[in-house]
Amino acid sequence: MASYLQIADDEKGHDLNLFCIPRHYENDLDKVIIPHGLIMDRTERLARDIIQDMGGHHIVALCVLKGGYKFFADLLDYIKALNQNSDKSVPLTVDFIRVKSYCNEKSTNSVKVIGGDELSHLAGKDIVETGRTMQTLLSLLSECNPKMVKVVSLLVKRTPRSSGYRPDYIGFEVPDGFLVGYALDYNEYFRDLSHICILNDHAKEKYRV
Ligand code: IMP
Ligand code: MG
Repeated sequence: MASYLQIADDEKGHDLNLFCIPRHYENDLDKVIIPHGLIMDRTERLARDIIQDMGGHHIVALCVLKGGYKFFADLLDYIKALNQNSDKSVPLTVDFIRVKSYCNEKSTNSVKVIGGDELSHLAGKDIVETGRTMQTLLSLLSECNPKMVKVVSLLVKRTPRSSGYRPDYIGFEVPDGFLVGYALDYNEYFRDLSHICILNDHAKEKYRV
């Protein structure tokens, strides 16, 4: 089973004033839950675990856009650093796929998939909530008979809505609330925020569509 850093349900988070937050989001957030530095530290370790497990296999890294783009880029930077600084290295190519399932803070019932011309051995993902997006994607990938598929997700949400699906690598397990930042969005806003934060109710209304 994948190990992960657990963020407890009663985690109070950190005061926004202790961090640099874009002015345009200052009134929209409650707390910083995962500071950018901690995301980076955990991602560095995931890169090491992945390289260790992959042996010399060629990796086709598939980024699940849009929410996965920051995590994907940072994870690949750490994998690249390992590749260029050790005796063992893993050849790496990249591909991108876009999925959409959310409107406001709710999952819609449809999962739309766009793009991706090659098939993957490693899929980089922002967050798994119910697991439905990832399960849809995995069944699509399996049609192309890849040798091996491993899923890396920065976040997994502890929620009764979970289908039971678990990724192969997990950064953090988080409480059942709506998170934004580090490319996670609320109706396309907050991707330009470095830290992972809790949205306040005022912002849910302000950016509602
Ligand atoms: P699932 O299909 O229920 O696992 O939902 C996964 C997708 O929903 C993610 O790829 C995100 O796009 C979106 N999502 C789920 N929870 C959150 C959240 O807390 N913040 C932002 N997006 C979320
Ligand atoms: Mg989204």
